[in-house]
Amino acid sequence: MPSGSYDFDRLNDTSYQTDRLMQQARAIRGMEAAILRQAGIQGAHDVLEIGCGPGFVTDLLAELAPNGSVHAVEPSATLLSQVEGNVKSRPERGLHLHQAFGNALPLADAAIDFSYARFVLQHVPDPLSVVAETFRVTRPGGRFCAVDSDDGLVIVHPEEPRVAAILQQAQAIQASQGGDRFIGRKLQGMMVAAGFSNVRTRVLAMTSSELPFGVLFNILLGYKASLLGDAVDSRKLYEELAADVAAGRRLLAAGVFVVTGERA
Ligand SMILES: C[S@@+](CC[C@H](N)C(=O)[O-])C[C@H]1O[C@@H](n2cnc3c(N)ncnc32)[C@H](O)[C@@H]1O
Repeated sequence: MPSGSYDFDRLNDTSYQTDRLMQQARAIRGMEAAILRQAGIQGAHDVLEIGCGPGFVTDLLAELAPNGSVHAVEPSATLLSQVEGNVKSRPERGLHLHQAFGNALPLADAAIDFSYARFVLQHVPDPLSVVAETFRVTRPGGRFCAVDSDDGLVIVHPEEPRVAAILQQAQAIQASQGGDRFIGRKLQGMMVAAGFSNVRTRVLAMTSSELPFGVLFNILLGYKASLLGDAVDSRKLYEELAADVAAGRRLLAAGVFVVTGERA
C-alpha cells in the first residue's frame, strides 16, 4: 500500500508548505474556533489532534481546552519538533506529543473526549482505519470532528484551463500516492461505518470576496501545485488570477466538509 500523499520530508518546498499551513490556520482561526465549539470541544476535555503538522491548530485546541490536555499526533519528526514552539499556552493536564500514524494511536481505549483531524484524511491510504482507531480511543459521549476538502466543491469562474489542469493532474498524482481529493463527501459514511452515531455533515463555503486571495489560492492550489513541481508556473498563474480577482473579473470559491460524530 502507498505511504500516503503527504510525506513532509519528501516535499520539495518544505518552508513554503509550513508557511501555507500557518496562513491557512491564521486566516480562519475565528471561524475554526466557532466550528470546534459547535462540534463539542470543552475547556476540560482531553483532546486528540491527528496529523497536527507544525502545530498551528494545536495552539487553538490548547486555547479551547485550557483545563484539559492535548495529544498531538504526527508521523513527521520534523513537523512534530515544531509543535512546542507554536503552542503558546499549555493545557493544565499537559501537551503530549506522539510521533505516530493515525491508524496506530499510542493511546489507551476510551482516553479522549474530543478528536480533530484537519486536512489529514485526504492524504491517508486507508482513512477508514484512522476513523476506526479514533473511535477506539474515544470515551462514550466523546466526539470526533474531521475537516477536509473535496475538489467537487472548487469553482473558478470564468474557468481557467491551467487551474483545471492542475486539479486534474494533482487528483491523479495524489490518488497514486494513496490520497483522495474527493474525501470530503465520504467522511460521513466512514464515521458511520466506524461506529460513530449522530453523524452530521456541514459544508462551509469560502469565496475570493471573503478571504484574502493569497490564502484562498493556497488552500485551493498551493499543495497541488507543489505536487506538480515545475510542470506549472504557479507564480505566474497566481499573479494573473490575483489581478482578475482584484478587478472583480473572476470568482474563486471552495467548500470544506466538516463532519462530526459521537461515540454513544
Ligand atoms: C496538510 S497537512 C495538515 C496539517 C494540520 N492538520 C493543519 O491543518 O495545519 C497533513 C498532515 O497530516 C500528516 N499525516 C500524513 N499521513 C498521516 C497519517 N497516516 N496519520 C496521521 N497524520 C498523517 C502529515 O504529516 C501532515 O502533517
